[in-house]
Amino acid sequence: MSFPLPQAVKLAIEDFAHGLSRAEIAERAAAMSQAYREGRSSQRAMRERADIAAYLLARLPATYAATSAALSVALEPMPDFRPESLVDLCAGPGTASLAALALLPTLRKLTLVDADRALLDTAQRLGRESGLAALAEAALVHGRISAVRAALEPAELVVMSYALVELPEADIADLVLEMWRLSRALLVFVEPFQSAANDYPYTLRNVDLIDRDIRAELAVPIEDFLILE
Ligand SMILES: C[S@@+](CC[C@H](N)C(=O)[O-])C[C@H]1O[C@@H](n2cnc3c(N)ncnc32)[C@H](O)[C@@H]1O
Repeated sequence: MSFPLPQAVKLAIEDFAHGLSRAEIAERAAAMSQAYREGRSSQRAMRERADIAAYLLARLPATYAATSAALSVALEPMPDFRPESLVDLCAGPGTASLAALALLPTLRKLTLVDADRALLDTAQRLGRESGLAALAEAALVHGRISAVRAALEPAELVVMSYALVELPEADIADLVLEMWRLSRALLVFVEPFQSAANDYPYTLRNVDLIDRDIRAELAVPIEDFLILE
């Protein structure tokens, strides 16, 4: 199954990039890919509007497709799932929210968390310009996840896409467990299969939810999520 970006989102991205030189965007996109390959974080890769435009044009369509694929596999055994609330952690420009809204149109209460204010504003702008009221009106929580996570309210669906690799490895186990508690019905991680810098997805596999005092059911084996990029 393929998951192309909705036309309205494509147009909103074109509008965001309007007036910027295509050559500059291509240059920023190449530099960003190199930064991610070297394991550098988004915060060092994205500094200006041209960097965000490069992310929207060069990376978002692929992370949107991978997140849509992961969500649709996770939703297969839950045909009656009609969630209203979503927490999108390390949301960036709202990629996972966009994917979730396309698959789960009952979603109406969105909370987007990110350390980068400009990316959160971009997510809201994309929502506004593509007519997605739930995204345009989402609650935006600006801050590092470690600082804001205690204040987050539970949601039926909790998603984190392409971000675990950016968090300090030592924090991951606690964070994953807290996210599990935050999710009332479904928790989905989407990660690149491999990163030159680390083996973090394998760390996630080692967080044994079932052995803790939590009743967890893995809808899809973690290995299946890891090959979606
Ligand atoms: C590669 S982007 C992924 C964005 C989006 N989820 C996607 O799939 O396109 C990683 C995001 O994580 C955010 N981030 C990294 N470390 C963070 C932290 N400690 N707390 C909150 N956000 C963080 C960055 O600002 C960036 O927006």
